[in-house]
Amino acid sequence: MNAPSLVTTDVDVAIGKLRAGGVVAVPTETVYGLAADASNPAAVARIFAVKGRPIGHPLIVHIADADQLDVWSSDPSSVARQLAANGWPGPLTLIVPRSEQVHDAITGGRTTVGLRVPAHPMTLDLLRSSGLAVAAPSANRFGAVSPTTAQHVLDDLGGVLDPATDAILDGGPCEVGIESTIIDTTVDPCQLLRAGAITADDVVALISDLAPASGPSRSSGMLESHYAPQCAVRLVDTADDAWALRAGTPGAEILEFKDDLAEAARSLYSELRAADTRGAKMLIVVLPSAKGLGHALRDRLTKAAAPRPR
Ligand code: TXA
Ligand code: MG
Repeated sequence: MNAPSLVTTDVDVAIGKLRAGGVVAVPTETVYGLAADASNPAAVARIFAVKGRPIGHPLIVHIADADQLDVWSSDPSSVARQLAANGWPGPLTLIVPRSEQVHDAITGGRTTVGLRVPAHPMTLDLLRSSGLAVAAPSANRFGAVSPTTAQHVLDDLGGVLDPATDAILDGGPCEVGIESTIIDTTVDPCQLLRAGAITADDVVALISDLAPASGPSRSSGMLESHYAPQCAVRLVDTADDAWALRAGTPGAEILEFKDDLAEAARSLYSELRAADTRGAKMLIVVLPSAKGLGHALRDRLTKAAAPRPR
């Protein structure tokens, strides 16, 4: 059985565990993160062990406000400052030159670091009242579906977290439901490394120029297979295609989103997890159109459907 004592709604309990070098799953508006004190390399190393994440995949540092940009970054560009001023708190991660404050354990030795101010009130309270910054990837086993509830974290990591040192801070279901938009501000023009709820159009409205990911930026952590449930995932363009495929596939189920793409994003990972819980053999997903939030949904679904590493 899972250890129920891992879960708490008390921010001070979470702060105590972080200060003592434990790892704490924290709610954000995007997905739950698995947090450790960013100034404690041993605690950060534990994140990789708990997730089964290969060392060298860089982590995002979550900070309390935009003023912290100058603590965790050295000489961020004016574009980075503008994006921070407009996008934080919110589902936007900025890749900036790292400061000396940032340990190699966080960046995998890169000269850059990803920073974000999350918008969830509990985690903002945690960061602001403790003065801590926390390194945090999504709180799932490496390569699997990200968690959008405390129960998801418990299902995935309940067996590896230690109630004596670690915790899961329950802040309810995540509002956005998919991971933050990532912009590399260290290249000119800036590059979109991961689509999210802040769309490319939103970014262009602020900084006028944005390129797709290419070159060295592309390689870091942008694996083909990711966000994958246990069951096979097949993508189709229309409901008719979905029904045709299902007719010939025992154990297949169909997932089709309504027009409300924000709701689709909010429910995506729960839907993928629920298909596994029901024992579905295959999930046939009707792709949302490539507009607005549809880009981010298509990105996650394409990675969920990609060939899996053995
Ligand atoms: O919404 C989110 O971003 C969530 C919540 C918890 O904040 N976090 C999240 O973290 O999705 P993670 O580790 O699952 O994904 C972070 C991505 C990875 O693809 C990683 O390679 C990329 O950010 N990343 C982090 N630091 C980077 C850097 N310095 N340069 C390029 N990519 C970086
Ligand atoms: Mg992740």
